[in-house]
Amino acid sequence: MSDGSNAVVRPARTVRGVVRIPGDKSISHRYAMLAAIAEGTSRFHNFSEARDCFSTLHCLCELGCDWGRAEDEAIEVHGVGPRLRTPTEPLDCGNSGSTMRMLSGILAGQPFTSELRGDESLSRRPMARIMTPLSEMGATISSSAGGRPPLKIHGAPLKPIHYRPEVASAQVKTCLLFAGLFAAGETVVEEPMRTRDHGEIALRAFGAEVERTGNVSRIIGGQRLRAIEAHVPGDLSSAAFFLCAAALFLGSQITLPGILLNPTRARLLDILVQTGLGISVAHLEEHRGELVGTIEAHGAAWKGAVIAGADTAALIDEIPVLAAVAPYSEGGLEVRDAKELRVKESDRIAAVAANLRKMGAEVEERPDGMRIPGGQHLHGAELDSFGDHRIAMAFAVSALRAEGETTIVGADAAGVSYPAFLEELRRIAE
Ligand code: S3P
Repeated sequence: MSDGSNAVVRPARTVRGVVRIPGDKSISHRYAMLAAIAEGTSRFHNFSEARDCFSTLHCLCELGCDWGRAEDEAIEVHGVGPRLRTPTEPLDCGNSGSTMRMLSGILAGQPFTSELRGDESLSRRPMARIMTPLSEMGATISSSAGGRPPLKIHGAPLKPIHYRPEVASAQVKTCLLFAGLFAAGETVVEEPMRTRDHGEIALRAFGAEVERTGNVSRIIGGQRLRAIEAHVPGDLSSAAFFLCAAALFLGSQITLPGILLNPTRARLLDILVQTGLGISVAHLEEHRGELVGTIEAHGAAWKGAVIAGADTAALIDEIPVLAAVAPYSEGGLEVRDAKELRVKESDRIAAVAANLRKMGAEVEERPDGMRIPGGQHLHGAELDSFGDHRIAMAFAVSALRAEGETTIVGADAAGVSYPAFLEELRRIAE
């Protein structure tokens, strides 16, 4: 299937099997960062295999926090407490916006200067959304590139703030709650729309008190964190690719054990059920405040959907794959209020539209969304990942229903969140 960084995907008749999805990326980042500033050694089972999460671990190592893999494969992070070590080199966040934005919250409260860098894609992404509130809290943050990375952070004793971010972003909220740990008093973040709450849940797991009512989260500074042992649930955003693959074929049947079902992430399941995919959930459990269960899915006629408003924020990482399979549905897909998609690892609206058109699909691109009619027949083509993991994986799925072979140029981008994705997709495709 793969040739260097390109992958060839051939059409399939169906998908069937069990897929064990690696640990959730959002939770793994947060666990690693909090473990670094906790007291004692934390152990994480099923820690994400994403390159992004290793970017976080490498930055933490540069900040004086050792980590390693234990004999039982758990990732162990040796916490150093709230005071990290002055880094001697710029911190390389790779492709990871989560690393840069969330770690900045911790660095803002440190008594030293640090520099954060990223790859070409991350260097294009907006950072003013964290620079503004962290500056209000008392840190000095500069960017040599107009609000884009690299960032220089001069940490300081922080003042608490009551902040209302303009964009609904869990990365921004988490950054400010982490900074709030270092502020003298209560920091409040009031979001325009509810976003994933893994930051709040992880802080509680490490022993901090965090309050959340509706869209308002609060934390009091100066709380000490204690190391934990935890199992990271399977990443629902990675599971989304297999669920959408199942939606492509009437006879499909897949089982995904141990998947994160946190209600702030699980809107995908509602949408897929509404559109016709047969889904059942079993073995519900709670791990460290996060809901986990086994998802079984089987294909049925796929009706199509409209995603707008709060749903767009809740499904922001799943929209590329929903869009990539939408032409095969009966009713197509309309996505609104999704301006944020233009500033992800790639401009995901433009990337989806360009690849769908190469496959012969009709698609209407809008400034903040897209409309993709259903009932279309697509053909294989040479597609571009645009260096974006979710675009590479979304089109590997779409290619399963196309006529003829598809080549995805730069398919190794998938490793940013799911290194084994293509092998797993090939294994379940018949
Ligand atoms: C994430 C939040 C989302 C999401 C990203 C991970 C997180 O980003 O797209 O993949 O872990 O908090 P935004 O906060 O920019 O919406």
